Amino acid sequence: MKTPYPAGKLRFTIGGGGCLSGRLRVPGDKSISHRAIMLGSLARGTTKVSGFLEGEDSLATLTAFRQMGVDISGPDNGHLIIRGVGMAGLREPPGPLDLGNSGTSMRLLAGLLAGQHFPVTLSGDDSLNSRPMRRVTEPLAQMGAHIETSATGTAPLCIRPGGMLSGINYAMPIASAQVKSSLLLAGLYAQGETCVSEPAPTRDHTERMLRGFGYPVRGVGNRICLEGGGELLSTDLDIPADISSAAFFLVGASIAEGSDLLLEHVGINPTRDGVINILRMMGADIQLLNQRDMGGEPVADLQVRSARLRGVKIPVDQVPLAIDEFPVLFVAAACAEGETIVTGAEELRVKESDRIQVMADGLNRLGVTARPTPDGMVIRGGGIGGGRVDSHGDHRIAMAFSIAALRASAPIQVDDCDNVNTSFPGFVNLATAAGLAIDSYRER
Ligand code: S3P
Repeated sequence: MKTPYPAGKLRFTIGGGGCLSGRLRVPGDKSISHRAIMLGSLARGTTKVSGFLEGEDSLATLTAFRQMGVDISGPDNGHLIIRGVGMAGLREPPGPLDLGNSGTSMRLLAGLLAGQHFPVTLSGDDSLNSRPMRRVTEPLAQMGAHIETSATGTAPLCIRPGGMLSGINYAMPIASAQVKSSLLLAGLYAQGETCVSEPAPTRDHTERMLRGFGYPVRGVGNRICLEGGGELLSTDLDIPADISSAAFFLVGASIAEGSDLLLEHVGINPTRDGVINILRMMGADIQLLNQRDMGGEPVADLQVRSARLRGVKIPVDQVPLAIDEFPVLFVAAACAEGETIVTGAEELRVKESDRIQVMADGLNRLGVTARPTPDGMVIRGGGIGGGRVDSHGDHRIAMAFSIAALRASAPIQVDDCDNVNTSFPGFVNLATAAGLAIDSYRER
């Protein structure tokens, strides 16, 4: 039947209180899923993938490679078969590649496509088209790439073929895995060696996966180097559950009295485990069980029980290791005893939303004393009230405020939640199964 109104945005309402229990497996790692498509497509031979994240961001990458001529079967319950075309096998897509909300797709593809023999345009939604891209286009230009941005350095990115790229030595001014990965992927097509130094460790999935596909990558200290002109050989990949999605449940079970939850098969790569370290510093009860290695990525089952959290000054070196988890860590801080201080996290201002401002506004709406600073936030723990908050279309903000309801004195309504599907399809069902009193419906 036709509805009389156009469908509006998705809204969550979550009852205040409750606890989380049981065992659950959150969807596959988003960062690794993107890279599986990229490297599987460029490899020689067939790559079988399991645990692939069927979220809109990684599906945007998958669609982009299909449009460049790669034959990919699936996804079928997280399974994919990628028939790799080899390093020189991509073809010009029929039109611009639409990468939706996905910054990882755009920044990594800018590098990977800079060395191809065809022109291509990368575009996205309003949020992605307003995020900074010079951080990749400038070093790529130093390698000889021709990439046009808007006057303000944003997408659409128009990539034109030129001569052969040349390797560079690049010291990144910011700790960014997307910039590092973009340059390493361009480096595959460059003459000579490409070296990237990072000011602090960032997620190293690209380096690990390149090695898994048989491509030599040298890492000495904070400097990662590879030589262009090699080949990738297909391999099978089992992608662990995403610690960034597990983070919502780590915080939820920690703050909600009576909780006891087991999160299965979570990736605990040491460049991603800041959320565990920070929560433990705050007094959380998190155990790593059954630690194992899955194709070069460490994995464990995480047991989390409720605990009394205390405010901390978060060490700056943990920030890049937990960069996507701050929205929900701010919620943990709001439930802790005393003050939590976050510094050195200015990158949060240029994520899918300005996560410092949007989280501070939402927490204030719920009666929490949270003061945004240029590079972080100061949060005074105490009670959380009910109320209505706006996620600004940011998936992690929407889920963070849903989790906050576990400690709220009245229901919370979260607006603009459609983008939860970019990273965590099935969030509402999984959270409901664990005990969250969450409903979703469309605004009229
Ligand atoms: C990602 C790197 C991070 C992270 C993003 C995914 C990746 O961004 O915030 O969600 O897969 O490389 P930066 O490298 O820009 O910090």
